[in-house]
Amino acid sequence: MEVVIHPDSGAVARTTADIVQGRLEQGHAALGLATGSTPLGAYRELIRRHRQEGLSFARAQAFTLDEYLGLPPEHLGSYRSVIRREFTDSVDFPDRAVHSLDGHAPDPVAEAARYEAAIAAAGGIDVQILGIGTDGHIGFNEPMSSLASRTRIKTLTEQTRRDNARFFPAPEDVPHHVLTQGLATIRDARHLLLIGLGEAKAEAIAAAVEGPLAAACPASSLQLHPHTTVLVDQAAASRLQHREYYEYTLAQKPDWQAY
Ligand code: PGA
Repeated sequence: MEVVIHPDSGAVARTTADIVQGRLEQGHAALGLATGSTPLGAYRELIRRHRQEGLSFARAQAFTLDEYLGLPPEHLGSYRSVIRREFTDSVDFPDRAVHSLDGHAPDPVAEAARYEAAIAAAGGIDVQILGIGTDGHIGFNEPMSSLASRTRIKTLTEQTRRDNARFFPAPEDVPHHVLTQGLATIRDARHLLLIGLGEAKAEAIAAAVEGPLAAACPASSLQLHPHTTVLVDQAAASRLQHREYYEYTLAQKPDWQAY
């Protein structure tokens, strides 16, 4: 893992946008998009580059990570709606190229298999953006998710339902069940960007980066991936034991070495 500690969330957003832009400029790109608050700064920066610098998504595809079960696709809280509202509708992403899980599918097990096949048909995901839950989840893979898991139904913890209640009219409206890419599905992406912002994520980031590889912290499964970039602000880096080494590594980063 390459751990990149930036002074603030704005710098994290710019580096995330740089990495996505670099991949877009290589041609067809399949982007894995997270929802939640964490990637919003990066999405705003990509929208700005689209409007002011002509960055184009016309040849890209997008795959969201997860979806609430039981919400119709047009529900304002569905991640299908959220990713359009927060990002893809504000750039030149073709709508048909923005893929998501259907939380209203009559057969969620078949829907999970369809999604795995759709990712494979696109040639896999090139760059996957990930936030992290306070409990170390990525996507909606809650603690004790199998490190080998594929896209499937999961039950949310009460903590995650509380954390996400701000997106719903009332806390009890947050669904209990979700569809999520599995940990092995996520690790199939060629480059993973794990983003942590703020003190509330410090413990989860430390467990993911420096803790044991363990289902108790699903994000620790990224230790198995050959190309993970961890992008954090000072607050989210505050519990890292080897912080000085990461800062030293970044300061020594050669010009020729990309993220
Ligand atoms: P957040 O959520 O970006 O809204 O903090 C991250 C997550 O739960 O994965």
